[in-house]
Amino acid sequence: MKSKFDRRTIVTGGAGFIGSNYLNYAVTKYPRELFINVDALTYAADLRNVSVENRKNYAFEKSDICDVASMTDIFNKYRPTHLIHFAAETHVDQSIKNPSICIKTNVEGTNNLLQLALDYKLSRFHLVSTDEIYGDLTAYAPPFTEDSLYNPRNPYSASKASAELLLLSYIHTYNLQGVITRSSNNYGPGQDATKLIPKFITFLLEGKKVPLYAKGGNIRSWLYVEDNVKATDLVFRKGKAGEIYNIGSREEYTNFEITKKLLHLLKKTEKEIEHVADRPGHDFRYALSSQKLENELGWKPRVSFDKGIKRTVVHFKKRTG
Ligand SMILES: NC(=O)c1ccc[n+]([C@@H]2O[C@H](COP(=O)([O-])OP(=O)(O)OC[C@H]3O[C@@H](n4cnc5c(N)ncnc54)[C@H](O)[C@@H]3O)[C@@H](O)[C@H]2O)c1
Repeated sequence: MKSKFDRRTIVTGGAGFIGSNYLNYAVTKYPRELFINVDALTYAADLRNVSVENRKNYAFEKSDICDVASMTDIFNKYRPTHLIHFAAETHVDQSIKNPSICIKTNVEGTNNLLQLALDYKLSRFHLVSTDEIYGDLTAYAPPFTEDSLYNPRNPYSASKASAELLLLSYIHTYNLQGVITRSSNNYGPGQDATKLIPKFITFLLEGKKVPLYAKGGNIRSWLYVEDNVKATDLVFRKGKAGEIYNIGSREEYTNFEITKKLLHLLKKTEKEIEHVADRPGHDFRYALSSQKLENELGWKPRVSFDKGIKRTVVHFKKRTG
């Protein structure tokens, strides 16, 4: 049956943190485009974060991207024209304990989607990747650019780098219209409570101590999820096929600085910090230059960390009741 929507976009992982924020933005912004959220609903998913579920241009399908038969049924049912691939096993600590799960979803699952993208002649395949594929930086080194070398240093980042290489090979070999974004650490409403910022906020709200790795000296650049969603959408629609775009903010903080900001916002003291053994192979610093995205597509991050973190605390306060 012919769909009334000419443009039909599969969004994998749309029940996760960034995917749900993307859907809330895009489904409302583009009412003439159909968005099909495909998600296996793992521990990281929370459909409560999708606020557009009653819109006519939104559909949900529960499926594992590793299940080829089920994914083929979904492609047959909707005949998608475009795809944004957010779905991934994203937990670095879990990937260190059990690498196989993230290799299966992030590598094999991505390859299944790439094959389907060729079979169904998609006009766009957008892989959502991470700054972690660059490995880590010393304190004063300049931020990574898109030309920096791959240097993944844990199973999660190696699996994301592998997914990128697969996509690049499909672009080269089959002329697939692919594009990649690599973003820095995101924070904001809807992130699952195993990740640093939501975990610390939830623990502090519940009166528990926060477990800080070692002295908390590791540095990350932090990007509010709404800024990432807008950048991702811009690249999805206007980025050049075959290209890679970094999405980063210039706001770098150590984990200790983040913890102090949260303690201050929740009116707690440093007595609530419990220093725990460091993560094995913990990368020291990640930082990205988004100059290419700023120059070519005119994007800039709009939400400062101080503003974004307040909104995030309000969100988790409401969730925790
Ligand atoms: N969160 C960050 O700071 C960050 C930074 C850079 C890049 N990224 C990338 O952005 C993407 C989204 O990250 P996130 O933080 O929203 O992740 P998340 O863990 O919150 O959500 C991932 C979603 O994917 C789904 N999923 C997992 N395995 C699946 C499978 N086999 N089949 C179908 N669905 C599956 C989960 O159910 C979940 O809803 C990922 O590709 C991640 O690598 C995230």
